[in-house]
Amino acid sequence: MNFQPILEEIVTTLRPQLGKEGAVANYIPALARVPVNQFGIALRTVDGLEAAAGDALTPFSIQSISKLFALTIGMRLMGETLWERIGREPSGNPFNSLVQLENEQGVPRNPFINAGAIAVADRLVSHCEGKIEMLAQLSSISNEAIHYNPEVAASEAATGFRNVALANFMKSFGKIDNDVATVLDVYFHHCAIEMNCLQLARAAGYLCRDGAHPYLPERQVVTERQARRINSLMLTCGTYDAAGEFAFLIGLPCKSGVGGGIVAVVPDQLTLCVWSPALDSTGNSLLGRKALEMFVARTGLSVF
Ligand code: DON
Repeated sequence: MNFQPILEEIVTTLRPQLGKEGAVANYIPALARVPVNQFGIALRTVDGLEAAAGDALTPFSIQSISKLFALTIGMRLMGETLWERIGREPSGNPFNSLVQLENEQGVPRNPFINAGAIAVADRLVSHCEGKIEMLAQLSSISNEAIHYNPEVAASEAATGFRNVALANFMKSFGKIDNDVATVLDVYFHHCAIEMNCLQLARAAGYLCRDGAHPYLPERQVVTERQARRINSLMLTCGTYDAAGEFAFLIGLPCKSGVGGGIVAVVPDQLTLCVWSPALDSTGNSLLGRKALEMFVARTGLSVF
């Protein structure tokens, strides 16, 4: 399939809607300043063919898309033991909610809500240098150097009151082993990674290759079974409390971030990234979701 004209058509159709609906995440000052009228889309197939359109090369804050890559490191380093303190159920609640944690004794519903990612960060702190390992992994699977944006990391730390609450709450249940400030420093830095659509489409490539490294096919980033499980979690939990709607409308494993990016996987075929900063009420990119709906309608690609 020739994807380039499809991506260009999506950009042409959606550009007139930029700035009309939704709002950028404003609870973190560094994100509130991002101009709303941007839209990019890029993909990379299992054969290494690439297509990109719009602002596909503009760097943005990947935010919660980093939860996908943190989980990947955790699964690789810890295997099944990672799941001793983290569930695998959709939360049905906003990503920064505290309510379920009390009922469920400090065990987060899944690794893609904030509490779950903080729990993953704690596990990483126990097993590796979480900040260094993340950049090493991303630079390897993107095939180019990836960096943190220190201003965004500082902005996360300065305004992350709910995350501080979530981490301390889990600590009070004995579910966080390490110093809370150290764990949050890792978590905030992961949220502050900057990448563009094409880099993310490349980096997520192991998820459409049964876990194989996107550039070094003889190397596994995770096992085939782990890749399948990450894709399942993306489908059921990757877009917060809109995961059911995403599965219904799009039918692809997706992971979103409040920077406006969404990574999607078509197993055995390609990985795709869309980005547009204005979010809907669930914290997912509004035009990003529309773009994915258009992409599956035009290509017929879906896991169902
Ligand atoms: O923890 C925060 O407030 C943000 N950095 C969360 C990032 C995000 O995209 C939403 N998360 N699940």
